[in-house]
Amino acid sequence: MKALILSGGHGTRLRPLTYSQQKQLIPVANKPVLFYAIEDVIEAGIHNIGIIVGPNAEQVKETVMSREWDAKIEFIYQGEPKGLAHAILVAREFLGDEDFVMYLGDNILREGIVRHKKHFEENDFDASILLQEVPNPQQFGVAELSEDGKTIKRLIEKPKVPPSNLALVGIYFFKPIIHEAVRNINPSWRNELEITDAIQWLIDHGYKVGWTKVTGWWKDTGKPEDLLDANRLILDDIETDIKVITKARIHGRVVIEGGTEIDENTVIKGPVVIGKNCRIKNAYIGPYTSIGDNVIIENTEIEDSIVLEGSEIRNAGRIVESLIGRGVKIINGTSHPFGRKLVIGDNSRLIL
Ligand code: G1P
Repeated sequence: MKALILSGGHGTRLRPLTYSQQKQLIPVANKPVLFYAIEDVIEAGIHNIGIIVGPNAEQVKETVMSREWDAKIEFIYQGEPKGLAHAILVAREFLGDEDFVMYLGDNILREGIVRHKKHFEENDFDASILLQEVPNPQQFGVAELSEDGKTIKRLIEKPKVPPSNLALVGIYFFKPIIHEAVRNINPSWRNELEITDAIQWLIDHGYKVGWTKVTGWWKDTGKPEDLLDANRLILDDIETDIKVITKARIHGRVVIEGGTEIDENTVIKGPVVIGKNCRIKNAYIGPYTSIGDNVIIENTEIEDSIVLEGSEIRNAGRIVESLIGRGVKIINGTSHPFGRKLVIGDNSRLIL
């Protein structure tokens, strides 16, 4: 089996962060979201991976190749993102005549895909999807099951009136028949070749489409709130690993990487992860916070937040539920004229 992991798209709902970086590279608990997908695929015994890349192709390649993987990875350029089924068209040559799992690189699934892959293989399905009950099915692809709940009757992309609360997780198993399906569907109202339509084609033509229910948590990290949520969920599972000597007061489960200096006036309450070479002074780092490499935090309280590498936060009061990009400076100035002095990128959000 091969894997096709999608890491293209414009990530408009995550602007301004996605003006400068690909959304699947934004870190959660200091690891790019995309890496969770690659790890799941390798854990399931798949060692031949194609990654679909789009606008920031070089950035994705560089980040993925900065690490060693127990897999052969190649990159496939999509050009304009014209839908998930379009990605399969673009990857036709790479996929050949093998079964494959398609994994959206902005999805994180706690339990991984081993159980789901087994279900697909053992039942000889032509396709198998993963479903989870959600409170907001309008925002996803939604499945309608048969009366006995055994088979899938219908799949609808982002329905206004959802027939159920069963959302399609962004992970799909396919036999090569899917190539015929994607060639036979038309673009949707949003001008995309929808994967839901391709799977519906399989159902309508009598092919066997199975499904499994996700038991642990699943997150589609398309929006800032989702990234903060995913960060909380991942941090809930970390184990303490402190690689430096510090006199700071530390409670709960905390990871601190090498080269970081934390003074004795700082209080850290886990779960928290702090990257390499940070300088933290007279600060409070509260639960569910991830701080990237080379970050400076002084005289500030921060909790339930993600801070990306190279940012500097001084005398900033109390920061909560925030997503702070790379190289950001948040400083309480001490010179006249007083007041907020802002250099804020397009589509930023400040709630003061
Ligand atoms: C895509 C799919 C949708 C699925 C979702 C899961 O939506 O089109 O069916 O439920 O991923 O993450 P998108 O995130 O592109 O809006």
